[in-house]
Amino acid sequence: MKFLEAQFVQKFIRMANDGWEQGWHERNGGNLSYRVKPEEVESVKECLNAGEWRPIGTTVPSLAKEYFLVTGSGKYFRNVIIDPEDSICLIELDDKGENYRIVWGLVNGGRPTSELPSHLMNHEVKFLKNEKYRVIYHAHTTNIIALTFVLPLEDRVFTRELWEMATECPVVFPDGVGVVPWMVPGGRDIAVATSELMKKYDLAIWAHHGMFAAGEDFDLTFGLMHTAEKSAEILVKMLSMRPDKLQTITAQNFRDLAVDFKVTLPEEFLYEK
Ligand code: 13P
Ligand code: ZN
Repeated sequence: MKFLEAQFVQKFIRMANDGWEQGWHERNGGNLSYRVKPEEVESVKECLNAGEWRPIGTTVPSLAKEYFLVTGSGKYFRNVIIDPEDSICLIELDDKGENYRIVWGLVNGGRPTSELPSHLMNHEVKFLKNEKYRVIYHAHTTNIIALTFVLPLEDRVFTRELWEMATECPVVFPDGVGVVPWMVPGGRDIAVATSELMKKYDLAIWAHHGMFAAGEDFDLTFGLMHTAEKSAEILVKMLSMRPDKLQTITAQNFRDLAVDFKVTLPEEFLYEK
């Protein structure tokens, strides 16, 4: 099979373009990675050519020998759909989870996203908890970023405020949202901080920068990012009209919702205000 005809590649490209169309990927902003299934690697085996081993910048031993489809560093999401060979790559990890090599893509040179340590450490945390998780997505979501200038940078505040803005939110992300304070992007430190939050949540906000989402497949992960960002947009609109709410979804409303929708909503987010 031709590499670009594989369904997992097509879905990856579509998701990158969907993110671009949402306005979350100015210039080279954002990055996407997918942990490829063994049978999917097998289906494109004839298209692969191994490059040089290079250090990941962190260690992910549980992901040894896994393959990931990832966006390239400095590459624009808006170009992924028209020139995927230039914009994305398939990488293979070595048997210690310390190095990677490009086996397809980035035909004009380059390397995987500078956030590869965050992507792989998040993948490792999710893999160890639930092997079905395969997608990690980083986007520069406008309204979430705006809120990181006006709300306290606390998990409990962001979770509760986003839940209150749209009834479906506690059903879509019942575990809540984590917040990483401003840190230098692109390195191991922010990767460690983010992956620590990913032990508990599927969403991690990077203050004044964007958001990371984790999920089992492209639809769930994109949907999660979209739902949280939409809720943030409603909160921004509400705060633009007036600083307080005349009415809202109450802590008891959330408890009632949890029963009918069969989700567990941690009491730490259902505090009285
Ligand atoms: P890359 O172009 O290296 O993926 O970086 C974009 C980004 O959003 C960094 O946080
Ligand atoms: Zn970024």
